[in-house]
Amino acid sequence: MPTMEPGAIAYFQGDYVPIEDANISIMTHGFNYGTGLFEGIRGYYSKEEDNIFVFRLHEHIDRFVRNFGILCMDIPEIHDEIVEICTEVVRRSGFKEGVYVRPICYKDECSLGPTVRNVTSSLCCYVIKLGHYVDIESGLDVAVSSWRRLSDNAIPSRAKTTGSYINSSLAATEAKQAGFHEAILLREDGTVAEGSAMNIFMVMNDKLITPPPTADILVGITRNTVMELADQHLSLDVEERPISRTELYVCDELFFCGTGAQVAPVRSVDRRVIGNGEPGPFTRQLQEMYFDVVHGKVNQYRSWCTPVY
Ligand SMILES: Cc1ncc(COP(=O)(O)O)c(C=O)c1O
Repeated sequence: MPTMEPGAIAYFQGDYVPIEDANISIMTHGFNYGTGLFEGIRGYYSKEEDNIFVFRLHEHIDRFVRNFGILCMDIPEIHDEIVEICTEVVRRSGFKEGVYVRPICYKDECSLGPTVRNVTSSLCCYVIKLGHYVDIESGLDVAVSSWRRLSDNAIPSRAKTTGSYINSSLAATEAKQAGFHEAILLREDGTVAEGSAMNIFMVMNDKLITPPPTADILVGITRNTVMELADQHLSLDVEERPISRTELYVCDELFFCGTGAQVAPVRSVDRRVIGNGEPGPFTRQLQEMYFDVVHGKVNQYRSWCTPVY
């Protein structure tokens, strides 16, 4: 698991500082109430080009900034500056391998009271080195969680709020304690939402199916990437519709996707084997394409790759 990276540079209080000097008070509103918004963005190192490509940086920052309104975030940095800050922390850290960049906008006041209005906000950003976050080769054994996915009317699921990761943590912990790799969370109505920190897709009868943006999901950038690749390059129709729990047991292929998870095949759900228990052919093709795209090898998608150096 990643820890503080020696030599890493963070953006904090308008400056670039060594990551060990970027610290907040224990009284900080964001720390006390979970009033923060963040992004997780990967940078992939290309040996051929000796460069790091930050994947879909503009789309991540677009989602980030768009959700500021939900938590009444008000900071001086605008979209283009945040994009620049994300690449600059990597550049100044001098890393030459896979990285994960995390901008966070949080309520920085040391004040009491769970409100988001009239509480000042601040932007920080850090970088760590990151390889594979979950196994993407043999397939994951997953379980449907007894925890429900938080509802958009309780904690906005489309915003990547720091506080909402209690939901993810409880589900992932339960799954791991029971001997599974990951959890699938259902919504309050019993339909499928997503994994603990990743979206879900199933393949059934040559269709790629995933829950819609109204299904209490974080509308993932990787989800969008997978839908675009499947639509443009595979003989798969893409459908967004509610998924029932037992459809997961009988589908042809199942996989998670997300910035951390990348494209991760699922081989069983609640100990029911999916397909023949091996990652399916469409999942494999999507995974292969995904890694080519993120490493800047596909011209058509080169605009998704922002070079750092
Ligand atoms: C709850 C949740 N769902 C889905 C995703 C996938 O989103 P993205 O592809 O934008 O990383 C994440 C992100 O990491 C997440 O935390």
